[in-house]
Amino acid sequence: MSKRLALLVAAALVAGPLAAQQKPVPLVVPAPQTMPSGPLGEAVQQGLSIINATRAALPDYVGNALNCSSCHLNGGTVANGAPFVGLAGAYPEYFARSGAVETIEDRIADCFRRSMNGKAIAVDSMPMRAIVAYIAWLSAGVPVGASVDGRGFRALPAPGRAPDAGRGATLYAQRCAACHGRDGGGLRTPEGTFVMPPVWGPQSFNDGAGMAQAATLAAFIRAKMPLGRGGTLTDDDAWDIAALIAGAPRPAYAGKSADWSRGGRPASPR
Ligand code: HEC
Ligand code: HEC
Repeated sequence: MSKRLALLVAAALVAGPLAAQQKPVPLVVPAPQTMPSGPLGEAVQQGLSIINATRAALPDYVGNALNCSSCHLNGGTVANGAPFVGLAGAYPEYFARSGAVETIEDRIADCFRRSMNGKAIAVDSMPMRAIVAYIAWLSAGVPVGASVDGRGFRALPAPGRAPDAGRGATLYAQRCAACHGRDGGGLRTPEGTFVMPPVWGPQSFNDGAGMAQAATLAAFIRAKMPLGRGGTLTDDDAWDIAALIAGAPRPAYAGKSADWSRGGRPASPR
């Protein structure tokens, strides 16, 4: 590598991903009638149905009761609900957790292994092509290298006091248990079909998932939960409930000791 190129690469690593260097563009969800026709349109449709009913579509690759849309809200179309809009041109991107430049397929595979506590689908599989086609359709018009406003989750300021999981448990019982279950295990029909997703326990995301980190949980809960009543909790409420959920039992992710080997591990809240 020439000295000049090496300097440029070093500067880019320090400055963060390419996408973060541009001003965010507004999040616009394409109108359904812009969905392509023919085989490409079928792939986009298939991608959407996998996102919304992941376990039903890919039972061999999903090890819990979640769907992609349990966290990537409304099919990945919601600001601060980890939207997929605009991601097609945001990758490849350096990702501190793996310490590597990742493609969109890498990130999808990682959510299968961690968030879904399952197995990665192959890069050249039909389901991967369908999910990528869906994300590309959602990303039409967003410039390469840009990110949309509301990408990911809106981070909360660091808590003003140590998060209190005991207070979190009281709030959880009042505000969350009706849907997510008193034992965190979600709600099922008598036949066993999940109608509400678990937030801890054997059917939840594993401890290597992004959502297992208190800061990610707090950001998501503060903005989006209780479902339909996002924004009604205080920051402290969200940190306290996040402390409860982050400390609750869940499946273990074998590969997590290799995470953040090049630094960048998020600080734990106090
Ligand atoms: C338990 C919640 C959860 C579920 C379920 C989940 N994800 Fe994620 N996903 C996350 C979190 C949290 C992040 C951000 C991770 C980080 O940056 O630490 C993420 C990130 C991503 C990204 C990158 C987003 C960006 O802005 O760059 C993609 C793509 C993605 N997930 C796809 C999927 C797909 C496809 C599925 C279903 C197979 C899925 N996810 C299921 C929580 C989840
Ligand atoms: C009215 C029912 C309802 C209530 C009350 C509710 N949620 Fe949820 N929650 C959902 C649904 C449904 C989803 C999945 C998103 C979707 O399907 O749109 C979800 C998703 C989640 C997720 C990510 C997916 C998972 O299962 O891990 C977390 C974490 C979460 N909720 C936490 C909470 C917390 C904390 C509270 C209380 C402050 C709460 N929720 C209150 C219905 C609810």
